[in-house]
Amino acid sequence: MSRLQVVSGKGGTGKTTVAAALALALATEGKRTLLVEVEGRQGIAQLFETEALPYEERKIAVAPGGGEVYALAIDPELALLDYLQMFYKLGSAGRALKRIGAIDFATTIAPGLRDVLLTGKACEAVRRKDRSGRFVYDHVVMDAPPTGRITRFLNVNDEVAGLAKIGPIHNQAQSVMQVLKSPETAVHLVTLLEEMPVQETADGIAELRAARLPVGRVIVNMVRPQVLDAADLEVLRTAPRTALARSLSTAGLGGARRGGSAEQLVEPLLAQAEEYAERYALEQEQRAVLGELDLPLHELPLLAEGMDVAGLYELARELRKQGWQGGS
Ligand SMILES: Nc1ncnc2c1ncn2[C@@H]1O[C@H](COP(=O)(O)OP(=O)(O)OP(=O)(O)O)[C@@H](O)[C@H]1O
Ligand SMILES: [Mg+2]
Repeated sequence: MSRLQVVSGKGGTGKTTVAAALALALATEGKRTLLVEVEGRQGIAQLFETEALPYEERKIAVAPGGGEVYALAIDPELALLDYLQMFYKLGSAGRALKRIGAIDFATTIAPGLRDVLLTGKACEAVRRKDRSGRFVYDHVVMDAPPTGRITRFLNVNDEVAGLAKIGPIHNQAQSVMQVLKSPETAVHLVTLLEEMPVQETADGIAELRAARLPVGRVIVNMVRPQVLDAADLEVLRTAPRTALARSLSTAGLGGARRGGSAEQLVEPLLAQAEEYAERYALEQEQRAVLGELDLPLHELPLLAEGMDVAGLYELARELRKQGWQGGS
């Protein structure tokens, strides 16, 4: 199992949710994971219902079996200060730099540099060891930018090539790329069973592969339960209306008690079944498209009650049931 798990996907499909559930799943049984956010939106804090995360690793959840999930919202400006501090021992000069706007320059005018700082911080956490030589985190899970930007974001080498051909930034980019292009990293894509996100997933995978970035798995999120199978639908399509009405009234539905009759229920029920059948056929088409990608596929249910911390644990359990276990 790769130690850096990057979670991307079309906007709104559940990247943040899936990344968090994955961090929990991988922490189970005494492991320690770090969940990192790179877009400064405090999505993780919201999801875990805690206050905004500082630029500091914080324990935010305990996984079943005693594992721990830490979280970090990477702030590109602070990461740059960190970085300058590390290489140039700037100290208070760093603060001066901030005042004169050098950091604005670096983080907004030179987005490649911004990206190398963000990915660099994640890679540093992946490689960090404690005094006894053990990895501090068994896994690092990144809530990454969406599919449309993920390849550029991870391909920091190309991004900074025009900025720095030698020197510490160049070296930093090189060492980040070494982690990102190795089997230590896996880039996963979250999708829904709908045409647009599935198409975006297919395109994203092609781009990642072209850039030789390691594609991991596809997670289909918010899957609605299958309530009727093909045989059920066939029965509904062909059964005589009167027989359906009789079954309904045997089941105690639409009885004469309130003046309604089972016959009146038949048409609306059939209309709903028809609607379901159409949606199911469309979903099956999208499953087939995803099947062609030749990658491990996972499905996570749509939680009808909406998302909360309990829901996250439920999705984590589901990921583990589908074979997504920790271990290094
Ligand atoms: N399996 C699920 N069941 C029910 N609701 C879900 C599920 N997964 C995600 N959601 C909800 O869908 C919405 C989008 O999820 P999330 O914020 O994780 O997506 P995202 O891809 O990170 O979005 P963005 O592109 O804005 O970062 C949220 O309200 C979240 O609670
Ligand atoms: Mg998000």
